[in-house]
Amino acid sequence: MKTLAGRSSKLMAMNSTLSVIGCGYLGATHAACMSSLGFTVIGIDTDPNKVEMLSRGELPFYEPGLDTLLEQEIKSGRLTFTTDFSAVADADVHFVCVGTPQSKDGLAADLTYVRSAVSAIAPYLKEGALVVGKSTVPVGTAQSLRDQLAVTAPHADLAWNPEFLREGFAVEDTLTPNRLVVGVANDRAEEILKDVYSQIIALGTPWIRADLPTAELVKVAANSFLATKISFINAMAEVCEAAGGDVTVLAKAIGYDPRIGSRFLQAGIGFGGGCLPKDIRAFMARAEELGAKQALEFLREIDAINLRARQRVIDVVRSDLSENLTQYKIAVLGATFKPDSDDVRDSPALDIAAQLHAAGANVVVHDPKGIEPARKRFPNLSFAESVSECVKDADLILHLTEWREYRELDPSVIGQLVKNKIIIDGRNALDRDLWRSNGWKFHALGRTD
Ligand code: UGA
Repeated sequence: MKTLAGRSSKLMAMNSTLSVIGCGYLGATHAACMSSLGFTVIGIDTDPNKVEMLSRGELPFYEPGLDTLLEQEIKSGRLTFTTDFSAVADADVHFVCVGTPQSKDGLAADLTYVRSAVSAIAPYLKEGALVVGKSTVPVGTAQSLRDQLAVTAPHADLAWNPEFLREGFAVEDTLTPNRLVVGVANDRAEEILKDVYSQIIALGTPWIRADLPTAELVKVAANSFLATKISFINAMAEVCEAAGGDVTVLAKAIGYDPRIGSRFLQAGIGFGGGCLPKDIRAFMARAEELGAKQALEFLREIDAINLRARQRVIDVVRSDLSENLTQYKIAVLGATFKPDSDDVRDSPALDIAAQLHAAGANVVVHDPKGIEPARKRFPNLSFAESVSECVKDADLILHLTEWREYRELDPSVIGQLVKNKIIIDGRNALDRDLWRSNGWKFHALGRTD
């Protein structure tokens, strides 16, 4: 078993048990990955159903590779899950991985779960324990939690270690991240985290020590930058449509400049998910509280461009079919916010499907992994278990999430199932020439011809 002992005299007494509070996407991944590094890991969640599933080695969501890792780590005996917060008493380092969703009444992040997680573990923290926040929080939260712990568990310390994992690549991003960022208030906290991550550091992973506010800001700055890149290219798509250009060629051409880079320049229906949309909004709300509102005003436009992309697809549908959509069957390929995930939180695809349904169209949605979560969110939508069933007699196909199986569709086969050969590629991911050569009317955002 890997041990924290021996690295620093202050850590000698530690027995290398970690706890992970909150076993959603981030927490379940972190728990399984830390266990795979040899640590004993206790995962805690307030949801008994989730704990039961995880304890059986079953993942409550879809994430490539994490299912087998979880099963393997449960079998190893190192990884356990419970709803009982007193179990953290055995651990030396505690990773807080609970959600920070958008508040119901505004743009700010809801910190209820983070605050209650820290309060719940405080009575059980042993001498020298380190609480490590991984959740995405507004700058200043870590210091306020550290102040809280100074009263409720003065023998413990708190650090912040933001997470940059992408859904679909969660295991890879956790075990081989492109950097490790730790916000600490002293050397001891940094040493403990270096011990925890020693195997990842040994791979040559850049290590960045920051103060608490900078570590919190790194996370929201990174997500804001990514959101900006996507909205930038979607703004260019709008201009291309107005000027008769092709955004895919434009993106390729500017992407060759290494200062710009080609990634995250895929124009289409924009970003969604549980992170980018809510993070830019919470960042704006926090900047305003701090008196720096103007600095992040541009993020309001990033958000607006992003939401406009959804509307633009609906406009193309109307111009292809009719203003009145009640006579038409629209087949929607994709419900999740991106491929290789079953996450439908703030999914642009599902939002578009729901808006078309609300406009009276007969909308049928297919997704390789996201049908059940999508049905829970929009029980009134119709779902199909197969692409053929989805597109059968359709007046128009909307390609909204770029799953590989959609890219591999044969337009001649699909053409025999539909009523009208019209397809709109909302992700600029299909082979336009191939579809057109099979007689399809093919539209894509940001490409005029
Ligand atoms: C994002 C960040 O990429 C991660 O680094 C971060 O850790 C994570 O949020 C988080 O805060 O937890 P994720 O939400 O998994 O990760 O999704 P992304 O891969 O960033 O994609 C976000 C959205 O942007 C998707 O809807 C995707 O379809 C869209 N997108 C992405 C585009 O429209 N165009 C692109 O070029 C790239």
